[in-house]
Amino acid sequence: MMKIPMNDLSRPYRDNQTVFDTILTKVGASGYYLGGPYGKAFSREFAEYVGMPHCLLVGNGTDALELALRAAGVEAGDHVVTVANAGGYTTTACRLIGAVPVYADIDADTLLMDMDDAASLVDPNVKAVVATHLYGAVADVEALRAKLAAQGKACPIIIEDCAQAHGASLRGQMAGSFGDLATFSFYPTKNLGAFGDGGAVLCRDEAVMERLSRLHQYGWNTRYNVAVPFGRNSRMDEIQAAVLSARLPKLEDANGARRAVIEAYAAAAPSCVVFPKRPDQVPSAHLAVVMVEDRNGFRAHLAEREVGTDIHYPVLDCDQAGWRDLPQVCGQLPSSRRCSERIVSLPCFPELTQEEISIVAEALAAYTP
Ligand SMILES: Cc1ncc(COP(=O)(O)O)c(C=O)c1O
Repeated sequence: MMKIPMNDLSRPYRDNQTVFDTILTKVGASGYYLGGPYGKAFSREFAEYVGMPHCLLVGNGTDALELALRAAGVEAGDHVVTVANAGGYTTTACRLIGAVPVYADIDADTLLMDMDDAASLVDPNVKAVVATHLYGAVADVEALRAKLAAQGKACPIIIEDCAQAHGASLRGQMAGSFGDLATFSFYPTKNLGAFGDGGAVLCRDEAVMERLSRLHQYGWNTRYNVAVPFGRNSRMDEIQAAVLSARLPKLEDANGARRAVIEAYAAAAPSCVVFPKRPDQVPSAHLAVVMVEDRNGFRAHLAEREVGTDIHYPVLDCDQAGWRDLPQVCGQLPSSRRCSERIVSLPCFPELTQEEISIVAEALAAYTP
């Protein structure tokens, strides 16, 4: 029986081996391994692609979140509204700063932040909202702004976590261009993936960009002169930037291939396998997540047919053992809890073959609870 993996990163390399091998040669010959022309070019190209004026390339998506929060003025003790079902990356960034995560519940149909709940949690302690475009679907931050305005509340800084949403759009507008800042990860399995770690912060405001560029290199304003506290070292290698530049023009097609995978699964699956709703969107289809009542039975059924599955994510941030003794603001989160017990991720990457997609679709069609 053919094994269907959750991902296989040897395939995109194999499909474009000459391009990638040439990058190593070119970067090596340039003599710049960091801070050179490839990084400058990719930050320009990516800012233009997303539709934001400024882009800073950093070491990874978690650094991007931490730097974005700091550049937005979030300090120890400040509150940050986010969700508890998005893998813990925003909470990790908050913990590094000493900021307090405030967990909004999710909408059970979309698995994204429930904007009514988020708006109700905004108070003067809240400095920022991090909206995660989870699984490649765009959380509606404009709806949040409208709800806050209707309640007469000032809108905190909005940061979009686009680590799973490169190229996704809502009502025709690109993910990453709605908020004050946007963060991206280029982890190898992402829709736009590097050959290792990478990340980016995009922003609208020049002063915020200035703060970001200091914070990502030791707090320096000029070499060896520290102008702001809490600086760190978080940079992107030239090799990663060159790989990302080569892959960016192919992102739209790759996202289309991911969407086709999910459409094929949705067409084949019985109604007890529930796909999240994606209203007004062209999602990046980062992960094919479904919900089922008997998750263990469903996974066993697929495993028997050699179809890989995973759970993104098995533990809500508010329940993580390592953060138990740290402050958080958290209600009952009924939808987050109920959905986190039912979610299952199916294989979804652009290089899946038609035969593999059909095998997964047939396995879904054959599922009876
Ligand atoms: C939603 C989300 N945010 C942030 C991150 C963090 O990115 P990185 O792994 O590059 O630190 C990831 C991925 O890992 C992610 O999926």
